[in-house]
Amino acid sequence: MEQIIEKCTGQVIEIYEQFDASHDFDHILRVMRNAKAIAETLPEANMAIVRLAALLHDVDDPKYKMVNHITALELLQSSGVDDETTFRVLETIKSVSFNGGNEEEIVSIEGAILRDADRLDAIGAIGIARAFAFGGARGRKLYDADEIARTTMSESEYRSKNTSSVTHFYEKLLLLKDLMVTEEGKRLAEERHKFMLDFLEQLKREVGLL
Ligand code: ADP
Ligand code: NI
Repeated sequence: MEQIIEKCTGQVIEIYEQFDASHDFDHILRVMRNAKAIAETLPEANMAIVRLAALLHDVDDPKYKMVNHITALELLQSSGVDDETTFRVLETIKSVSFNGGNEEEIVSIEGAILRDADRLDAIGAIGIARAFAFGGARGRKLYDADEIARTTMSESEYRSKNTSSVTHFYEKLLLLKDLMVTEEGKRLAEERHKFMLDFLEQLKREVGLL
């Protein structure tokens, strides 16, 4: 299994070379690290499944499909992963998607671990860095002064707009803490969530919007 994972890793590194810094191979390494930390509290998890799913979890994401023609299934099959493991890895990957909060049901402990591990990397200091890297790569504004200034705007109104990187905090990043599944994931999300709130408050203060 170790050799198979290594083979997959090589292919995945090549795929991730095509993406911007919000989504490079370091994201995969951080998700692995988060997954290991969570799995230490859940020793019944199958770590080979978690590691393979972490490696491949974004390969089939429609946002990245245009530049990447190989699917997670093809990658697993060409690396010599057996059918049962392939099925379990793909099932685990399905647990990850956010889908505006209408998420897939968690079907396994590995799915719960991977979902939380991926979400931890979207929040906190690293989440802030990634959001601005993503927005920058797509030419978005840092924040929209009108949007923030309209204090009467409800959170859902704010979320329905998508004009700046700061918008993304309201449409997704600030919601993730309450969507964590594992106890350890919830615990790790707390500090990161607070850091984002502090960041937004400081940002608004600095740009004269508080
Ligand atoms: P993940 O790999 O964590 O599932 P995505 O592929 O959805 O994340 O997005 C990659 C990174 O870009 C994440 O950190 C996410 O928060 C950020 N991102 C996604 N959409 C936006 C957006 N509209 N504005 C700013 N950042 C975004
Ligand atoms: Ni991811």
